[in-house]
Amino acid sequence: MSDFITLGIESSCDDTSVAVVANGTKILSNQISSQLDEHARFGGVVPELAARCHLESLVPLYRRAMEEAGITLDQVDLVAVTYGPGLVGSLLVGLSFAKGLALSRGLPLVGVNHIEGHIYANLLEHPEIEPPLLCLTVSGGHTDLLYIEAWGRYRILGRTLDDAAGEAFDKVARVLGLGYPGGPVIDRLAREGKPDIEFPQVKSLADPDSYHFSFSGLKTAVINWIHRHKQTGEPVDVPQVAASFQANLVNQLVRQLEKAIRAFPVRAVLLSGGVASNSLLRQRCAELTHKEGLALYYPSPRLCTDNAAMIAAAGYYNYHSRGKSSLRITADPNLKL
Ligand code: KG4
Ligand code: ZN
Repeated sequence: MSDFITLGIESSCDDTSVAVVANGTKILSNQISSQLDEHARFGGVVPELAARCHLESLVPLYRRAMEEAGITLDQVDLVAVTYGPGLVGSLLVGLSFAKGLALSRGLPLVGVNHIEGHIYANLLEHPEIEPPLLCLTVSGGHTDLLYIEAWGRYRILGRTLDDAAGEAFDKVARVLGLGYPGGPVIDRLAREGKPDIEFPQVKSLADPDSYHFSFSGLKTAVINWIHRHKQTGEPVDVPQVAASFQANLVNQLVRQLEKAIRAFPVRAVLLSGGVASNSLLRQRCAELTHKEGLALYYPSPRLCTDNAAMIAAAGYYNYHSRGKSSLRITADPNLKL
C-alpha cells in the first residue's frame, strides 16, 4: 500500500513552516523559517510585518519541502493548515495558500488548531502513545493543563489566568538584558546559579480544586527585585536570578500537574510547546512521573517550537476521524480547543 502523504502548513505567529509527513508520523521534510531577526529591532512581534514575511517565505519553503521529500503535488493526499489561534493576518496567509493548493488539485483540506498541533508533536516521535493522558502545553502564548480522554476529546483542567509561561520567561529575560526569546538563555544561565531568592508562590497551589496558573505576580516580583537592586547599587547575580525565577515557575507547573495526576487516571504525561524544551521542567516531570509509575513524553526541541510537521500530524488524525473541512473555513485568532 502506498504512503498517505499530508502537506502541513503553519503560519500562526512568527515562524513560517511547510512539512511533508507520511502516514501521520513519518517526517519527510519539515522546513521552518524564523522571523526572529525581522522583529528583534522592534522588541516583539509586529503583526503586519509577520504577515508580509509569511507571504515571502511560503513558496520557497513549499518548494524546498517538496524537493526534500522527493514528491510532487500530485502525490499529496491531504493539505493540513493552522487556522487558529494566532495573529489573524499571519493565519490568513497560510490558509489562503493551503486553500489554493487544495483547490488546484481537488485535494481535501483540513483546518488544525495550533494547540492541538503542539500536542500531536509528541506522536511524530512516539506513535504508540495512547490516551487517557495529561498534557501540559506551555508556549509563548499558552499555558494549558489538559486531560485527554481520547484523541480529539480534550478537557481543559487549568489555564493561565494572565501571562503564558513562555511570555514570563521572555519578559524577565528582557529586563535582565538577555534578548529574545528569553527561555533558552534563562535555561542555560540557571544551571550556573543558586535558586535561593525566595519569590512568592501563587495561592492556587494550595487549593486542591484549582489547576489554574498565574505568572504575572512572579514576573512583577522578579522585575521589582532587579530594579530595587539596581537602584541601591547592589550587584545583580544574573544566573542566581534566572535560577530562582525558573525554579519558582517550574515548581508551579509541576505542582499543578501532580495534583491532576492524583485526580485523573492516566497512562502517561505529555509536555508540548516551546517551554517543553526547558531542562528543569523535563527533569522535574521525569522525577514526578517516575515516582507515580507513569510514562513521560516530550518532543525534541525542534518539534517543541512552532513547525508544520505537528500540524500535518494533527491534520492526518483529524481527517481520518472527523473528515475534511469546508473550503470556506476562515482564520479564527481566538480558536479554543
Ligand atoms: O511554542 P512556541 O515556539 O511558540 C508559541 O506558540 O508561543 O514557544 C516559544 C516560547 C518562547 O516564549 C520561548 O522563550 C520559550 O518557548 N522557550 C523556552 C525554552 N525554549 C523555548 N522557555 C524555557 N526554557 C527553554 N529551554
Ligand atoms: Zn506554538
